[in-house]
Amino acid sequence: MPVDTYADNLESAVRHALLTTRATTVCRPPGAYRAAKRPGFDLAQKAEISFRLACLSLSGSSEATMIIEHLCREHRNIEMLLAVLERELEIFDSGGRPDYEVIRAIISYFELYPEVYHHPQEDLVFAKLKIRDPAAAAKVGDLALEHQKGAERLRRVAQAVDSVLADREVLRQNVHKIVRDFIEHERYHIMMEDRDFFPAALKALEPQDWTEIASALTNHEDPLFSEAAEETFDALRARILQLEQESEAERH
Ligand SMILES: [Fe+2]
Ligand SMILES: [Fe+2]
Repeated sequence: MPVDTYADNLESAVRHALLTTRATTVCRPPGAYRAAKRPGFDLAQKAEISFRLACLSLSGSSEATMIIEHLCREHRNIEMLLAVLERELEIFDSGGRPDYEVIRAIISYFELYPEVYHHPQEDLVFAKLKIRDPAAAAKVGDLALEHQKGAERLRRVAQAVDSVLADREVLRQNVHKIVRDFIEHERYHIMMEDRDFFPAALKALEPQDWTEIASALTNHEDPLFSEAAEETFDALRARILQLEQESEAERH
């Protein structure tokens, strides 16, 4: 399938999900507007990754720099959407009506972006780490299982939101627990990867490993790994953030 067609299909799949759920009445929550909490990216973790990236760029492994910087950027993108989801959860918790359009869009985004885009890239790096430094890989844990559990938590979030929207009987506290559980585990997973996985990979992998990973990514037959697909995800994320801004303006 041509790259453009694939990216179009990807976008229309997510846009369909965006449109199939429309927020009805938006109840403004009581109290003043509070900015969405931004999860802090530990400065020590950031310094560790920056230091290793600087060393690698000096020694000429530009692929390592490119790949890890890319994955780190994706983590920040994911965290941005988790903060939006958390904001909507706060509104739900306070008895208001969250913007379900935003929530559904975030779910759709998570169904695609980490699942089919971010995790496969990490899997390639992790496979190399297991060979170069099995002890460090063991410390990171079972990455594939972690990703699988994340997907299951996301499915539970989607089911809980569907139940609320379908007016099925569902305890608010259960919905809260399911969404909160997803947010917390995702944040923890990202923190662990920033802290343990990426620095370990930067330390242990050889330049040829990075070259192989980079060529696997750029020569990937799956057009999902194309620039067009990345731009589609960027556009979708921007759209979600815009919807959230509009909702916040209405809530004021
Ligand atoms: Fe991961
Ligand atoms: Fe990750």
